[in-house]
Amino acid sequence: MAKIRFLGHSAFYIEGEGLKALIDPFLSGNPVAAAKQEEFNDINAIFLTHGHGDHMGDTIKIAQRTNAVVFTCNELAGYLSLKGIKTEGMHIGGRAAFPFGKVKLTPAWHGCPIEEEGVVRYGGVACGFVIEVEGKKIYHSGDTGLTMEMTLLEDELIDVALLPIGGYYTMDIQDAARAVKMIKPRIAIPMHYNTFPRIEADPKEFAELVGEMFTAVKILEPGEEYQF
Ligand code: NI
Ligand code: MN
Repeated sequence: MAKIRFLGHSAFYIEGEGLKALIDPFLSGNPVAAAKQEEFNDINAIFLTHGHGDHMGDTIKIAQRTNAVVFTCNELAGYLSLKGIKTEGMHIGGRAAFPFGKVKLTPAWHGCPIEEEGVVRYGGVACGFVIEVEGKKIYHSGDTGLTMEMTLLEDELIDVALLPIGGYYTMDIQDAARAVKMIKPRIAIPMHYNTFPRIEADPKEFAELVGEMFTAVKILEPGEEYQF
């Protein structure tokens, strides 16, 4: 059985056969973090959607300590490899097989800077991920607006979709519900809300809007886990 634990904001821990991974591990400085970065000592992968601090978070520290491979877009991977980190620098639309399952990068309408010591540099493009483990598919959209590309995900037969609902920087509740209609995952889990005042949103409203569609909405509090 695969499991997914919400760590707050857009951060998740996922576990399945051959995979112990973090997605967007923003834990230090995250006001709703359900774990400390020091707790993750035996992970083998980190999926990083883009370079903003609320996603990059503790990626460098955790990857350097655990030797986990960081999956991200090629340009950001190039930067991380200069820090002695193992990377898989894939790109949008690319899919590849790994011992635990396949990974595909999906488009995200968003920015992707490399921010270091007050200097901002080009970091490639933001992305999302379709991650296969134990034959199940998890889609983490990253930060994104609603995009027609999401219709392409219907054929992927997504089991669990992790979607932002907070608005301002990403889709809001209405657009996230429209994304669900396009993707038709079995389960949708909202993320990227109520971390900061600008992204306040009521996940129950999202669940109501999705309503009786193909998809069931599962609201996870930071620290809660879902098995599938
Ligand atoms: Ni962002
Ligand atoms: Mn963000």
